[in-house]
Amino acid sequence: MIKKINSFLALCLMMLLISSSFAAESGEQLFLNNCAECHQRDGRGIKNIYPSLATSEIVSGSGVDVALVMLIGRGEMPSFAGSISNEDMAAIINYVRNSWGNEGERISATAISELY
Ligand code: HEC
Repeated sequence: MIKKINSFLALCLMMLLISSSFAAESGEQLFLNNCAECHQRDGRGIKNIYPSLATSEIVSGSGVDVALVMLIGRGEMPSFAGSISNEDMAAIINYVRNSWGNEGERISATAISELY
């Protein structure tokens, strides 16, 4: 009986650890999966090819402006409308606007859904 309770508790702990690491990583992980190929892991891009998001006026300006770039696309950057959910877009924007020295207000998925 005690053995059963112990393995049940171990299972709960494992699930808790797995779900909390997903929640903490999702914005960063989504950025790495969808954006870092061009803008690089450190957000600094590649000079004259991919702009830095770490020192971008658009990124430090407003979450709505970043969302519009992602929805419409820009130059060589594809549109992400339809391929990334509003929740994931909000997570990426909040990550980008609060990394590498950036500090920005958070945007919600609802605010993004109202843009289109
Ligand atoms: C295929 C390469 C590529 C990918 C992938 C990509 N981008 Fe871009 N991004 C670009 C290029 C190129 C520009 C500059 C476009 C221009 O101004 O002509 C740009 C511009 C931007 C800008 C405007 C920056 C400024 O200051 O002008 C933002 C914000 C941005 N990207 C965010 C993102 C985010 C967030 C993702 C991931 C969801 C992403 N990008 C994925 C290539 C990419």
